[in-house]
Amino acid sequence: MFICPGCRKKFMIPICENCGNTVENQNGIWQLTDAPDIVTTGEGDKYIGYEHIGGAFSGNRKYLIDEGDTLFAEYISKITGDGVFLDLACGDGCLTVPCAKNGTKIIAGDISNTMMTILQKRAGKNGISLQNVTLCRMNALDVLIEDNSIDSAVANSVLHLISNPEKVIGEIYRVLKPGGHFICKDDAPGKTAKTGEEFADENTAFIQITNEIYASYWTKLNSVGITAKKYSWKFDRDTACRSLFSTVETKRIERNKPFFNKLTDTFLPRFSGKGFSDQVDVPDDLHKTVMEEVMIEMRGKYGELIDTIGYHGVENDILIFDYVK
Ligand SMILES: C[S@@+](CC[C@H](N)C(=O)[O-])C[C@H]1O[C@@H](n2cnc3c(N)ncnc32)[C@H](O)[C@@H]1O
Ligand SMILES: [Zn+2]
Repeated sequence: MFICPGCRKKFMIPICENCGNTVENQNGIWQLTDAPDIVTTGEGDKYIGYEHIGGAFSGNRKYLIDEGDTLFAEYISKITGDGVFLDLACGDGCLTVPCAKNGTKIIAGDISNTMMTILQKRAGKNGISLQNVTLCRMNALDVLIEDNSIDSAVANSVLHLISNPEKVIGEIYRVLKPGGHFICKDDAPGKTAKTGEEFADENTAFIQITNEIYASYWTKLNSVGITAKKYSWKFDRDTACRSLFSTVETKRIERNKPFFNKLTDTFLPRFSGKGFSDQVDVPDDLHKTVMEEVMIEMRGKYGELIDTIGYHGVENDILIFDYVK
């Protein structure tokens, strides 16, 4: 199923019979690649791995299992059946963990060991076994898995972090079996706009405060020559996939559940913990100083509202795009 990182022939983890290369296991994670955690300079393809973002990525909710992810995982597990699901750039496991709960066989790969350690903790805290999960440190630009060997794959929320997302889609296409599924998820737009009138003022203020925090932070950093790092945020995945895969099926999962995202549980711990990918090139000490200045400004302007305010929304429907090889 895997390709040896030494001689690039088929092999079974951990030892390659062809070249003798042994893949190390670090705390339950096979170290299939020695590619860097992050590449933002140089000639070749660039990507933003989350090794230093990990702890802050999911705010204070990093060990919870989200209801929307559970619904998406149900679809993945059903399509995968007894086959193997590849969760590429699995991160802290928002899909691997609920799919593991469904008993699905999974290869979960990410360039960040830190993110996968959180995945393991998330599974542990929810009493979910990872016995059917092979966790690998893996580069989505060079997937060390045999051609035509995987039944379903997801690369959720990662293509925008990579300078060459077409290459990642090419890798997914290559490793899928004929008839295999590349399953993507988008939020159907519009539903949050239907939030009840009673919260309209709070929601407007929430958006204003988060925008101001973001703008003030980046204005200060831009003035010393540091800019937000973004690669393929405008990449048109659907067009790329439709030209490669033979068919696409779409499905809408209805959701109407109200939610409340408190600023101090979601945006703020993530932003102040450098949990957004565009903060990747901001030096830690400068980040700390600038963040302190921004929060003094915001507290001066909004006072205790900062500690209570949040966004009241209704979960968007989930749109699934299932591209079949
Ligand atoms: C925004 S997170 C998404 C994680 C997860 N798929 C989810 O939906 O929550 C992006 C993930 O992509 C990973 N990543 C970035 N570049 C990568 C690469 N070249 N190969 C593998 N993983 C990569 C990061 O380490 C991070 O865990
Ligand atoms: Zn080998």
